[in-house]
Amino acid sequence: MTTFPQLFTWGTATSSYQIEGGWQQGGKGLSIWDAFTHTPGKIIDASNGDVTCDHYHNYKEDIALMAKQGLKAYRFSLSWPRIQPQGHGKANKEGIEFYSDLIDTLLEHDIEPWVTLYHWDLPITLQLEYDGWLNPKIADFFKAYADICFDAFGDRVKRWITLNEAWVVVMLGYGQAVFAPGRESKTEPYIAAHHLLRAHAGAVDIYRKKYQHKQGGLIGITNNCDWREPLTDSQQDKEAAQRALEFFLGWFADPIYLGAYPPAMRERIPDKLPRFNDKDLNLIKGSSDFFGLNHYTTLYASHAEKEEQLDIDVYGNGGIAEDQYVNLSRNDAWPLTPMGWAIVPWGCRKLLHWIDQRYDHPAIVITENGCTRDDKVVDGKVDDQERIDFVRAYLNEIHTAIEQGVDVRGYFLWSFMDNFEWASGFTKRFGINYVDFDSGKRIAKSSAKWYSQVVKNNGF
Ligand code: GAL
Repeated sequence: MTTFPQLFTWGTATSSYQIEGGWQQGGKGLSIWDAFTHTPGKIIDASNGDVTCDHYHNYKEDIALMAKQGLKAYRFSLSWPRIQPQGHGKANKEGIEFYSDLIDTLLEHDIEPWVTLYHWDLPITLQLEYDGWLNPKIADFFKAYADICFDAFGDRVKRWITLNEAWVVVMLGYGQAVFAPGRESKTEPYIAAHHLLRAHAGAVDIYRKKYQHKQGGLIGITNNCDWREPLTDSQQDKEAAQRALEFFLGWFADPIYLGAYPPAMRERIPDKLPRFNDKDLNLIKGSSDFFGLNHYTTLYASHAEKEEQLDIDVYGNGGIAEDQYVNLSRNDAWPLTPMGWAIVPWGCRKLLHWIDQRYDHPAIVITENGCTRDDKVVDGKVDDQERIDFVRAYLNEIHTAIEQGVDVRGYFLWSFMDNFEWASGFTKRFGINYVDFDSGKRIAKSSAKWYSQVVKNNGF
């Protein structure tokens, strides 16, 4: 039996836009994702999050299902425009009540709420009036929004995550135009990233000054990173892999843990990288009580000598390729999920060690990991043994990392239920509970049953 540390947190995760629906209900304003999905051609199946899992109307049933499945922690996000329809100014009472009730319902069922303040659904007003994350003022708006949330929910919420995956926000939203707000630029990602870091730090500052001592919670940020394995043993490929990780996770974690953008970025793009002033840097450094990590996959990294050698469009997700001179590739032997993401469990262990060493042994919480499979309902059941195999294999590697001394404190499976998967719409199912999007019916997959046991036994 593989068991985990006694206080290990086991949970599942979701995000507001992906599950709530109720897009124009309860006084909610619109977000950039409402606009993006309603723009023809942006989402593979032309779908949107208007209704999705309709969690807005079903949250009590969903939480009852969580409780029935023995889940102990639940990570979800607040929709900023549901709380502040204009992105600034007065809070929307109905939005506060919705989340307040959701939190109470979780606590009644002994499920610990882990609340993300921003999982990509920026109020559209902030995009239209201020250019979203490109404007330095966004940090003040975010801070005011965070203040409202700490004040309204902090008596009951003891785990806060400021931002989900700033890398995705800037690379897919401002670099490659595949996510909202749909901008394509080789410079804007660095500016947006800078203001995301400033916004995160401002929110943490207000939590620490005004709330933490009396509410007694913890606050951190969740970043995402794939592992980058050197393609060969050559020094050049090793350096390329290191560079790729600095441009990916280091971009957001170095300022917080080490007080500066990573060396690879400072050397290669000194003119594109904005500079922090002393005040910002003081707030950013040390601004995370735990290291939130979303991890899904691994690629090889190799050195590219000249720009012509760069496979810029091949995988596209390693940051801005021309700035890194890294080529990404995969091993044909690695199985792929239907997302095209390679299943490489040991990559997770290596990444955990990399984080442990670089950031001086932080407390790491895996706030997302999971996979999509071609789930089908047969005789009223969904047998997703492949998902069980995936999660078991990743958990095994996480367990090994813990045994080797890495401080991993928790694991959140993505996702509690199938939902709107961004640009892939409803073509991909990540949940351990199957959702029939026509009837709204939830069906526990075999992975839900398996995961219940893992949580119950604190291992498998
Ligand atoms: C993450 C994201 C989630 C979910 C997941 C699977 O990047 O935070 O919202 O979509 O990937 O694609």
